[in-house]
Amino acid sequence: MKVGYSPVKPWEYEGDVLVVGIWQEGEWSADVVELDRRLSGALSRARQRGELSGTWLTPWTTETFGFIRATRIVVLGLGQRERVGVRELRLIAGQAAQEAVKHKARRVGCFLPETPVDAAVAAEVMTDGLLVGAWVFGTYKSTPPEETLEEATLLGFDAQVDSAVQRGAILAECQNFVRDLGMQPSNKLYPETLAKAAVDAATTHGLDVEVFDEKRLEELGMGAILGVGSGSVFPPRLVVLRYQGGGARTLALVGKGITFDSGGISLKSAAGMEEMKFDMLGAAAVLGAMIAIRRLGLPINVVGLMALAQNMPSGSAYKPGDVLKAFNGKTIEVLNTDAEGRVALADAVSYAVHLGADWIVEASTLTGAAITALGHEATALIATDDPLASLVLQASEASGERVWRLPAYPEYRELYRSDVADLKNAPGRDAGTITGGLIISEFAGEVPFAHLDIAGTAWTGKSPLNRTKNGPTGVMVRTFVKLAEMLSR
Ligand code: BES
Ligand code: ZN
Ligand code: MN
Repeated sequence: MKVGYSPVKPWEYEGDVLVVGIWQEGEWSADVVELDRRLSGALSRARQRGELSGTWLTPWTTETFGFIRATRIVVLGLGQRERVGVRELRLIAGQAAQEAVKHKARRVGCFLPETPVDAAVAAEVMTDGLLVGAWVFGTYKSTPPEETLEEATLLGFDAQVDSAVQRGAILAECQNFVRDLGMQPSNKLYPETLAKAAVDAATTHGLDVEVFDEKRLEELGMGAILGVGSGSVFPPRLVVLRYQGGGARTLALVGKGITFDSGGISLKSAAGMEEMKFDMLGAAAVLGAMIAIRRLGLPINVVGLMALAQNMPSGSAYKPGDVLKAFNGKTIEVLNTDAEGRVALADAVSYAVHLGADWIVEASTLTGAAITALGHEATALIATDDPLASLVLQASEASGERVWRLPAYPEYRELYRSDVADLKNAPGRDAGTITGGLIISEFAGEVPFAHLDIAGTAWTGKSPLNRTKNGPTGVMVRTFVKLAEMLSR
């Protein structure tokens, strides 16, 4: 689908579906009043019947019987005006796309009243939401579902928002790319093939890329990621993406890329295990963000590290009690092979330090405990540096991705002391999300470090931004890009 903009009035829009937003409270805007007049009062009669309440994302629809140019109108409730920010605008646009899909539209126009959000930002976010909301996985079904939607138009916008619309489209394409990777089953997408997807994408978009195979990982002394991958016939990889946008400082983005997490010898139970194909979405978000940063040409240097492994039980698998040595020389006692993400990331994060990163920001589907704490509403942030933490929070806020910081008190570090190695990978149940993040931070040395646990936010059920029953969200791409932009200045 393509997204464009047009200053035409909603009743002049020629397309299959016209989506018009109305607030729950207050008078209708002059444009909606005029639209109602042209529709011979259909909207005000519906309101009198109580069908047009304007409550959050509630749709009301009718054919337009030739009264206006669009074939069908969907009036979408926007809820309370003061509650609508960047995040909500994305959801509204996503819902608009899904209304269009529901009515098998080829062309959809989207007209919202004035919002508290700046017009260019609104255009960017709506473009993003429309494209993310319309996404569906090009499946392995022999007869793929028919997709009709070709074109969306933001109504009431002129050429001043042109670059914002382009930016929104870039961000959405990169998020949808992450989602496509996430949907791939792990018999198709394993470390080698995910690394290849990264190389292909990097080559297409002009990013520097290097892939360390198992031999190179051995030479570099990356015993941690090798340990995690040792149970699988698909050996691990570390992907290093480089973008030189200029300036003296370098941001490192690091992601967990476990293409399948069975738990290993500490095997997970069967129910829901298929979802563990999504355990690579941190690494995929790094890739998506790197491509977006490159396409936007941000003036900053960024390295992206993808720690790729498949966590399997087998005769060659790493075992509880094993001791692994990471790239920076620190040793890890493995107590639970299912706490594999932090182990694989130990090498990736210490390599980011080696590359001279000034900030390290890492995203991972790390702990079930993050879901226990925050549900599916927010990503957990654990940071060892207050200024970096506040930048990440600002970036997430501006991106409409919810992030909530948890404390990183030094006392928590006592929980993962080991008797035989520098640290153990799996402390007890207490503060599971925090200790997970802090264990990874041990490999960042003195470099300001932030860990984002996306276990609860990397995939969702059906939502305004996800047509799929259970699918990836592309979360953190927007926050990563915004952060890179903020650090540019
Ligand atoms: N990938 C999982 C975490 C996860 C669980 C993400 C459910 C999304 C949904 C991770 O590798 C894991 O297994 N974590 C363990 C850590 C524990 C053994 C310390 C967990 O959360 O139980
Ligand atoms: Zn995992
Ligand atoms: Mn695990």
